[in-house]
Amino acid sequence: ITGDAEAGEQVFRKCQACHMVGEDAQNRVGPTLNGVVGRTAGTLEGFNYSDAMVAKGEEGLVWNPETLAAYLENPRGYVEGTKMSFAGLRKEEERANVIAYLAQYSED
Ligand code: HEM
Repeated sequence: ITGDAEAGEQVFRKCQACHMVGEDAQNRVGPTLNGVVGRTAGTLEGFNYSDAMVAKGEEGLVWNPETLAAYLENPRGYVEGTKMSFAGLRKEEERANVIAYLAQYSED
């Protein structure tokens, strides 16, 4: 399903305790999500990832709408050992919407 970026901004509230996106975004508990669509997992300069996330990137995991949806549905199931303490987004629509929202910050 194609996400609604505007609705995704509301969903992103669930992420904001740990993540920033947009102008002046900085790493917090989690890495900034600017440019996350297209990023190899675990590779943002200056963020201290779990070994599990770094290993996923080394295995070739790249964040795209499909892989993001899988991670956001069940973070600790998709990346066993991730240090992202988030239960996940159960609803497919919420996942699609937040991914559409993040994609706005991943284009030139
Ligand atoms: C990592 C998205 C909620 C903490 C990540 C990554 C993504 C992501 C895509 C991987 C980034 C990369 O490889 O560079 C989201 C979204 C959220 C959310 C969309 C809301 C729906 C949270 C929350 C927390 C959190 C609530 C804190 C309680 C982290 C941490 C990492 C991470 C610590 C690094 C994981 C590791 O190294 O294993 N997040 N996240 N995230 N996130 Fe989140």
